[in-house]
Amino acid sequence: MLDCRAVKIAVVPGDGIGVDVTREAVKVLEEVSRRRSISLEVTHFPWSADHYLATGETIPQGAFEDLSANYEAIFMGAFGDPRVPDMKHGADILLGIRFRLDLYVNYRPVRCLDDRLSPLKGFGASDIDFVVFRENTEGAYVGSGGVFKKGTPDEVAVQEDISTRKGVERIVRHAFEFATARGRRKVVMADKSNAMRFVGDLWQRAFAEVSREFPDIEASTLYIDALCMQIIKDPSQFEVIVTNNMFGDIVTDLAASLQGGLGMAASGNIHPGRVSMFEPVHGSAPRYAGTGRANPFGAVLTIALLLDHLGKSGEAAAIEAAVAACVRERLCTPDIGGMLTTAQAGDAVCEKLSVVLGP
Ligand code: NAD
Ligand code: IPM
Ligand code: MN
Repeated sequence: MLDCRAVKIAVVPGDGIGVDVTREAVKVLEEVSRRRSISLEVTHFPWSADHYLATGETIPQGAFEDLSANYEAIFMGAFGDPRVPDMKHGADILLGIRFRLDLYVNYRPVRCLDDRLSPLKGFGASDIDFVVFRENTEGAYVGSGGVFKKGTPDEVAVQEDISTRKGVERIVRHAFEFATARGRRKVVMADKSNAMRFVGDLWQRAFAEVSREFPDIEASTLYIDALCMQIIKDPSQFEVIVTNNMFGDIVTDLAASLQGGLGMAASGNIHPGRVSMFEPVHGSAPRYAGTGRANPFGAVLTIALLLDHLGKSGEAAAIEAAVAACVRERLCTPDIGGMLTTAQAGDAVCEKLSVVLGP
């Protein structure tokens, strides 16, 4: 049956190279939709540092309700601008969407698409293929804490790291459910329970209990520092990693370097069954903004995650195949060994789609 209903996607390019890579990501989304006769409706939102500095508004009232009621998914570029040193707009928009839409699963696949992109001696594309599930609504990001005597020699700052039983359990269960559904056999939980005893103990117990529901999956734990070392020593040992908000942030930048760098890393901010948000892992890299040097492939691969989330796995696979072909043929930006500009790299993916999907 032909589905005539338009797929409505909200797009927030944001700041810096967020704008550059989003242009290419949307180009690829439009191309794949055209080739597969998907009726697509893209709505752009201007929320960014420019918008904040010009209007004083970060994200308007009612935006979270609008996004969850009227769109199938959200795509975002990146936020961060030296003119807004406290990242007020980023906190309101990016963390606002993650928290207010309760997108508790930060899904960050780590896949090396070509042997050439692996920086590790002796490990190639077939060895680097795991997934990090980062808890996305709690931890050190909740904004709980405060300061007093600011600016004096007696200044005190407190930033609390909060884990709830419900929050830990649902991300851990998601990791096991993903492993089961995708034929992965191992889940590793990474924490720092040797130093952070209270939250560590909660994570350890929740992980042990949830893992008993999945007897076919091998469950183990590692301290986050040891995990970082092991990822570099032998990435092939990992299949699914689950960890808290802050550790997940750090470890996915590290893991991005196994994919060819931050320009290659994709992510989804997901609440299963609800409107979810997709963004590349990298930031706004202000120095690269508008120079044509930003790699759009992380953003393009993020479109694949978005489509997969909407049940369009064939289209998602086609995009991944097209990007892999571009990487193989060096139809890419300088960070991964090519000579193309951001826009040319986006065009190259669209051209490869015609090979993968037909005219
Ligand atoms: P960054 O990810 O913006 O850039 C770090 C370096 O990685 C760049 O200098 C560049 O060498 C490389 N890089 C990143 N993306 C690339 C791409 N697409 N193509 C080629 N090279 C790429 O991190 P940063 O410099 O630490 O942060 C800059 C700003 O972005 C800060 O304001 C930070 O808070 C923000 N930030 C935002 C997000 C987000 O919105 N999701 C994520 C990370 C950082
Ligand atoms: C990311 C970013 C954000 C985070 C920043 C910009 C708040 O680094 O998405 O990885 O720490 O979650
Ligand atoms: Mn990060």
